[in-house]
Amino acid sequence: MTVHRTAVPGSAISEPVLPPALSEATRATIDTPALVVDLDRMDAAIARMADAMSERGVALRPHAKTHKSIEVGRRQVGAGAVGLTVGTVGEAEVFADGGLDDLFIAYPMVPAGPKAERLREVARRARLRVGIDSVVGAHAVADALGDDRGRVSVLVEIDCGGRRTGVAPSDAGPVAAAATHLGLDVIGVFTHGGHGYQGPDARAAAAEDEVRGLTDAAGSLRAAGVEPSVVSAGSTPTAFDSARGAVTEERPGTYVFGDRQQVALGSIAPDAPAAVIAARVVSVNTAARRFVIDAGAKTLTKDVPAYLAGHASIPELGAVVDRVSDYHGVVEVKDGGSLPEIGQVIVAVPNHICPVVDLFATFLVARDGAIVDTWRVDARGRSG
Ligand SMILES: Cc1ncc(COP(=O)(O)O)c(C=O)c1O
Repeated sequence: MTVHRTAVPGSAISEPVLPPALSEATRATIDTPALVVDLDRMDAAIARMADAMSERGVALRPHAKTHKSIEVGRRQVGAGAVGLTVGTVGEAEVFADGGLDDLFIAYPMVPAGPKAERLREVARRARLRVGIDSVVGAHAVADALGDDRGRVSVLVEIDCGGRRTGVAPSDAGPVAAAATHLGLDVIGVFTHGGHGYQGPDARAAAAEDEVRGLTDAAGSLRAAGVEPSVVSAGSTPTAFDSARGAVTEERPGTYVFGDRQQVALGSIAPDAPAAVIAARVVSVNTAARRFVIDAGAKTLTKDVPAYLAGHASIPELGAVVDRVSDYHGVVEVKDGGSLPEIGQVIVAVPNHICPVVDLFATFLVARDGAIVDTWRVDARGRSG
């Protein structure tokens, strides 16, 4: 098996990526650009995470924002996940419609106006948890739910180092006590160690921060008279390392498909990425040693972490997509690289798969290099 190495200029990271194989015959049938998911790799990722959490005695509640697919969510729950995490009320609505109705909306909600109505409606047909990180937010959740507030559980978010949402661990107790006073059922604390994405060396420390922060926050709740039954950590780079101690639940999302970033971080193996883009070479400039594919920012996004070069890698050509416009990706062929033929279908591995999925209506499902099914991206566009 050949592992293609994409050297990243100006970086110490040598990034091997081995995308799933797609036969030439299959490539000829694909209407490009297409999002292709290798079923066996995806199912292996689902099983690996489920088994690891089961061994550690930690509940798994995968974040469904990566796949936005009822079929994939069902497979995760079928493999042992206790429910799903979602990022928006819109995602909660879609998954509840699909019968996946144990859901955690994992951000500090401040529901008002139509959002309050929608939250209340989904709370009536799903087992729902929501996040808060302020007393103001707790009031908004309580007001939105009105007489239905007893139907929803609440978790207080803490910032363990990611510097996004969440209170300091020591402030979790007072927020929890205020929410309880408003009649909300506070069941625990959660955090997202997003700083594990800073580079391959950041993962272990971020996992440690998640465990320490959550342990302190759980103590803060107890001191405020609220017993935390759920202590929830979650990100793909930290999931294996933070599933210990006070942590009772993990919420990784990206692991289900993986991407170029997760390989570079060392969170997944080089041959684990399950979701790739099939794109067609539409222009070749032999003199300039440049070619263009029909996948640009509206397929690959413009997401480029500091430790990766380019917008995606094309391992079979040892190349990266150097520049993107809306519908086109430009590849400057480096020394030793070969130019493809016009019309050739290539396979690109996106840097960050989650926003890529949201740009497609369907997944082409592949097994052994052939397309065997098509699934909808059910929660596509449900960003609020
Ligand atoms: C609150 C929360 N939980 C879990 C996750 C899943 O993390 P990852 O995408 O690293 O799998 C995210 C990702 O953004 C998140 O924001």
